[in-house]
Amino acid sequence: MLITFEGTEGCGKSTLIRNLSLKLQSLKIPHVVTREPGGSAVAEQIRALILHHEMDPLTELFLYEAARAEHFKKTVLPALQSGQWVLCDRFTDSTLAYQGFARGLDTGMIEKLNHMATGRRKPDLTFFLDLPVEEGLARAQDPNKFEKAGIAFQKKVRKGFLHSIRKDQKRFRVLRVKNKTPEQVCQAALRVLGDFL
Ligand code: TYD
Repeated sequence: MLITFEGTEGCGKSTLIRNLSLKLQSLKIPHVVTREPGGSAVAEQIRALILHHEMDPLTELFLYEAARAEHFKKTVLPALQSGQWVLCDRFTDSTLAYQGFARGLDTGMIEKLNHMATGRRKPDLTFFLDLPVEEGLARAQDPNKFEKAGIAFQKKVRKGFLHSIRKDQKRFRVLRVKNKTPEQVCQAALRVLGDFL
């Protein structure tokens, strides 16, 4: 299973992934936790470049897709082929939301590049952690350039995710995280995963 986690800034993806991984360990389900951009040696170097430098949107898109091609071949695919689950913090839906809906690049082109970078392998399941953008931004410490871009930018990102969810309802599960504890969010995700065990 390839399971991806998406959301606007500060929605608590990383905490959920950490908690889920602990539960999967106790259930003896072999899995790999990874992230985009990053998740392999070269992709982590590209990550350092993208997150803290302003650049042309097209350059940014190509770097995300370059990191993805590398991460997919070096980390995701081998793990899936060896029968492990992959829990990935952000994936192709983030590119559509951030570079497409928020930066304004052509979404058809982004879909093509996403397909190229992943050999058309879609996630089996995608959790969208739903939190008002104002609350998420207030949580952000050591903000990256997207967090610094502010509320209007994040609202466009959110619109992008909602578009993907409408288009692919079977793949997405929306977890409402407002006023929920990390444990409650983790339990909700585990209930969903229970259908796949
Ligand atoms: P990160 O610090 O991991 O943020 P978060 O904890 O919110 O995931 O940085 C990843 C950033 O990269 C995040 O702001 C979203 C952005 N991003 C894109 O713009 N396009 C993409 O394709 C991906 C994977 C991430």
